[in-house]
Amino acid sequence: MPDSLDRAMHHARAWLDGLDSAPVGARATADALRTALGGRLPETGSDPADVIDALAEGAGPGLHANAGGRFFAWVMAGSLPSALAADWLVSAWDQNSGMFAVAPATTVLEEITGEWLKDLFGLPAECSFAFTTGCQLAHVTALAAARYAVLDRAGWDVNRDGLYGAPPIRILTSQNRHNTLDTAVRYLGMGEAHMESVATGPLGNMLADDLAGKLSGPVRPTILCLNAADLNIGTFDDFATLIPIAKAAGAWVHVDGAFGLFARTAPAYRALTDGIELADSWATDGHKWLNVPYDCGMAFVRDAAAHRAAIAMGAAYLSPSSDVRDPSDWNFELSRRGRAIPVYAALRELGREGVADLVERCCVHCKALVGGIGALQGARALNVPVLNQGLVRFERTGASAAENDAFTDDVIRRTNATGEAFFSGTTWNGQRAMRVSVVSWRTSDVDVERSIAAVASVLADMDSAR
Ligand SMILES: Cc1ncc(COP(=O)(O)O)c(C=O)c1O
Repeated sequence: MPDSLDRAMHHARAWLDGLDSAPVGARATADALRTALGGRLPETGSDPADVIDALAEGAGPGLHANAGGRFFAWVMAGSLPSALAADWLVSAWDQNSGMFAVAPATTVLEEITGEWLKDLFGLPAECSFAFTTGCQLAHVTALAAARYAVLDRAGWDVNRDGLYGAPPIRILTSQNRHNTLDTAVRYLGMGEAHMESVATGPLGNMLADDLAGKLSGPVRPTILCLNAADLNIGTFDDFATLIPIAKAAGAWVHVDGAFGLFARTAPAYRALTDGIELADSWATDGHKWLNVPYDCGMAFVRDAAAHRAAIAMGAAYLSPSSDVRDPSDWNFELSRRGRAIPVYAALRELGREGVADLVERCCVHCKALVGGIGALQGARALNVPVLNQGLVRFERTGASAAENDAFTDDVIRRTNATGEAFFSGTTWNGQRAMRVSVVSWRTSDVDVERSIAAVASVLADMDSAR
């Protein structure tokens, strides 16, 4: 009789082997999922293998095939083979990876992986790092270090005195920021009212003159947040110009590089990140472009002392290590899974060249998708992708902007309903658009052709139904 691990392996293989032929978008409604998976709390137990069978059967129709090659919504992918398998081992080993004394192998693996990532991204050797659940918590981690440091410079000990009566911290950002920065500012008690937008150019890039103007005047605690690729069209701020302006005014500079930091790994795109190494902290994700399983983000902080001061706990019953890195000194969690290990596996599977190749392939596919869909009758590409993000709008001659907004959403919905490809929508410059985001190692030329054909057939059907 197969045990629960065999059954999990069977269902996982069936799921992955079916990605090419299964519908890309989930089919089940919330009610259908509640019916399939819910009911009353069981009074008695079940055989573990039966639990896994029932779980796979009930959840199956509610799963998006983002692990496949034709899922272009949000910024999502599946997992590299080694990263997925390593993630299974992390659960089987079940090491509490907060401290070396508690989990020797997995904490050393985290130490190695963090150093490899600094090398991969070309970040300063003195940086500390943290493996978080995602970019959201990477922002919180990095900005906790920033908060500590800018207040320390103003003579305020936030650890001891909190924010009551502290000098206000000004957070300079642009309208083009990701919302996770706002939440990070809120979570850290710095207050959204203290966020100020710097003016941007037509592509959403921060304007140096406006930044310089905002930073003139007396020095005060300031954090500047810049973008390494926004999620609509992948715009990068001009780090080499902006960071020296901010540094001259004593500001801490943080970079949101959720996926854009990976541009730095690929020779063809590296120049987009020129000057990024001058920043003080960087946030990125493993579960986006490195194709490791959810959840995995990373924060890097130049001022390791500030990072540690903001996060480390130190309790008498614990066994801190003097010569090994204890993850709990750098992450919010004490007990935690060995989150770095799938990253370690991915980096070994790909090597530096493989990461660059993955990034460059995705960018080529994104250009082909945006160009191909944008060339269809009734479609218009809103950008030529500089990286792996693009936008297409759908328009009918003589229709109003609002009608074309609705038409665009309808094309996205109908395309997703074909099961051939899956896209999400956005509002960019006041207009609805289809987002084309490519981050998967699985996406192939055939996937690109199939996806363009899916949109083409939706447009043709809608046209003939008029
Ligand atoms: C630019 C950017 N920053 C931050 C995030 C948040 O990432 P996470 O969902 O891993 O917290 C995203 C997510 O898409 C993003 O695109």
